[in-house]
Amino acid sequence: MKLFALFLFFIVPALSYSAVVREAPPIHLPLARRTLQKRDLDYWANAADQVRAKYGFATVASNSNRKRQNTVGIPIVNQNGDSSYFASINVGTPPQSFDIILDTGSSDLWVTTVGCTTCDPSTPLFDPSKSSTFQVSPGQQGGTKIQYGSGGVEGQLSSETVNMGGFTVSNQGFLSVVTTSQGLLQGSVSGIMGLGFQTIAATRAVPFWQALVNANQLTSPLFSFYLTRENDPNQPPPLTAPGGVLTLGGTNSSLFSGNVEFINMPSGAEPSFWLQTLTTLKVVGTSIPISTSLSLAAIDTGTTLIGGPGDQVAAFWQAVPGHQTLSGAMTGYYSFPCSTTNLNVQLSFGGSSWSISDKDMNLGSSGVSGQCVGAVFDLGQASAAGGGPGNPNWVIGDTFLKNVYSVYRASPPSVGFAQLSTVAGGTGNRGSSSQSVSVPGTSNPTGTPGGQPSSGPGPISWATSRVRINIVAIVISLFAGYVLL
Ligand SMILES: *[C@@H]1O[C@H](CO)[C@@H](O)[C@H](O)[C@H]1NC(C)=O
Repeated sequence: MKLFALFLFFIVPALSYSAVVREAPPIHLPLARRTLQKRDLDYWANAADQVRAKYGFATVASNSNRKRQNTVGIPIVNQNGDSSYFASINVGTPPQSFDIILDTGSSDLWVTTVGCTTCDPSTPLFDPSKSSTFQVSPGQQGGTKIQYGSGGVEGQLSSETVNMGGFTVSNQGFLSVVTTSQGLLQGSVSGIMGLGFQTIAATRAVPFWQALVNANQLTSPLFSFYLTRENDPNQPPPLTAPGGVLTLGGTNSSLFSGNVEFINMPSGAEPSFWLQTLTTLKVVGTSIPISTSLSLAAIDTGTTLIGGPGDQVAAFWQAVPGHQTLSGAMTGYYSFPCSTTNLNVQLSFGGSSWSISDKDMNLGSSGVSGQCVGAVFDLGQASAAGGGPGNPNWVIGDTFLKNVYSVYRASPPSVGFAQLSTVAGGTGNRGSSSQSVSVPGTSNPTGTPGGQPSSGPGPISWATSRVRINIVAIVISLFAGYVLL
């Protein structure tokens, strides 16, 4: 049907014009005798447009909106034992390369910039004076702030040419940051790339991935994550390790098995976070009741753990024999006996039930002999995020996302999950339907039981530096205008 319409509207008129106007220089339109199969739709569309342009007719398929679409796999780095996952981007002309955290829980791009007063001396800084394409956004001489669960940044709203994995967005809005709160960045990392929707961008800029979708540069309007697991409760975390693959514009079928199960985002407001409704949560065979009013969950690569409402997180840990409530700096966390071998955590968002490896639930010793810190915490006690209407009640971070292949699709707005392939460290077994649960005895792909007590990273390091909560804190004030429309 589409092809036929294309033929009528583009090619028939094109043929007739070339036949009628004799003075024109010859335009070599390929005719039926040639091998039509070798020419794609771009070729035909452009051929017709060349004729239109020549004779003053409006073009239909300009080169700019018929760019060749593409899919690219971008290597990810796992930082500090699954705390953060970053990738490399180029900013400016000529390009300056930076490592930025990939964060589906926010929508702003920012990079630490020359003049940063609070940056660690080892943090690489962007130098606008060395780029011919840097621009300060008009009327934006003052500072703009972005507040995350783990801290905040301040800088100048600017625009630049940004490239990731061969995809380029010119005039990408971003914050050139000169103030960051302590501990927000570590190692080589200079910023964050938000992969949520524009509605929650403090900068109001179109996020990089959405700009690619809008410019029709992606094969499909989606991106996909495979995240590696390095966390070992008995070992100090590696500073960096291979972190997986971000595929922009598609999925990588070697990284998952079976199909991707997409679940539409809850309807109503314009897309903001990558939201799902948490419908089932199980631990050691016990179902934790999720109240409908507290079931909104953000799927967030930029958050290390899983955070939820206090009562429900309490109910979760109360189901685990030998659990303890932590206090002081660890308020909001719980511990459980390190010897526990089968927490068998499962969750679902209305479709299949997905398992979390016991390895991902155990953050090492709580400081109390034989007790290990659990990876599900009370969000209200540990972050400014959550709470308001429209804000997510749950933040589903890397603790879960390491266990699945996750796909973030712009249209229709939805999140998809698939079983990791064996290549990606999965068991290759698909999660079962939540209606007929028959999940294998262990949720752990490697079969290794939860960690033993002792020498793991202490609780303080988890509370202060290893747990990243990137979800944007102040949401409602920023995008209420959009939501109320
Ligand atoms: C897909 O993932 C595999 C395994 O990591 C990798 O070797 C391959 O290059 C990826 N393909 C693309 C197109 O990125």
